[in-house]
Amino acid sequence: MVIILIIGGSASQKLGAEVANELGEYLCPIETKKFPDGERYIRIKGNIEEKVVVIQSTGYPQDENLIELLLIIKNLKSLGAKEIKVVIPYFGYGRQEKRFKEGEAISAEIIANLIQSSGANEVISIDLHEDSVRNFFNIPSKNISATGPIADYIANKTNDPIIIAPDKGALGFAEEISKILECDSSYLNKVRISPEKVETQIADIAINSVKGKDAFVVDDIIATGGTIVNAIAILKKHGAKSVSVCCVHPILVNDAILKIYAAGAKSIAGTDSLKSEVSCISVAKIIADAVR
Ligand code: R5P
Repeated sequence: MVIILIIGGSASQKLGAEVANELGEYLCPIETKKFPDGERYIRIKGNIEEKVVVIQSTGYPQDENLIELLLIIKNLKSLGAKEIKVVIPYFGYGRQEKRFKEGEAISAEIIANLIQSSGANEVISIDLHEDSVRNFFNIPSKNISATGPIADYIANKTNDPIIIAPDKGALGFAEEISKILECDSSYLNKVRISPEKVETQIADIAINSVKGKDAFVVDDIIATGGTIVNAIAILKKHGAKSVSVCCVHPILVNDAILKIYAAGAKSIAGTDSLKSEVSCISVAKIIADAVR
């Protein structure tokens, strides 16, 4: 098997190298560049084996990373690869998996079609915002979860955590983590007023259960940080000893990190599904296990 490393401005170079290390497989360099007019160039610089794993998140700049991924997959096929497993740790456009308003493009479906038709034989992603995105593929797909690595991270930080979902949608995720850690979990109620503004209220969380505890707010994505900022305010108000934040995909738009610290977070940690200042939880092992 050959692990393809994507180099030069691509999204998952270090993660690709770590997965290759975990698997003890060959890391194949790729030359990538941008022509002066902005178009992308890729050249695979190793011998192509029959089985190949490509690792590339399609976060910001989404369109460039996506085009690069399509060029790599199609090129591998035409160079003789027979089985291409495509790992997309963060699946860009995955949040538009349906038509919320009439006339909208179902972006996740269109992107899935492109990836499949370029020659992918299997797709693996991590904590897809909606698992239903997998239905857009007619090839095998896996949606693996980073709950294990996140639970390990929290276990190293405190003996007495409570795991908090900042909205009901994240409750299953929070419960998985609390099950691993054998601790309590609960959730808050979030109402999204607009893409930029959310309001959060205390839900059926036993208010006293956060009192004096190290609360860890866990979510799949931190984008603007609005959801987390609201959660921190509520948890502090109800007596949490400290509030820390963990997410799978640290998108972190603009000043999100500053906003979250200014709201009183003790720490922010995300996985390396996306490169960021807080990407300190590795998903290399769960990816390696999924492609074995
Ligand atoms: C929403 O359902 C997601 O799980 C996240 O809570 C959301 O994407 C976070 O967005 P933001 O950081 O902009 O509040």
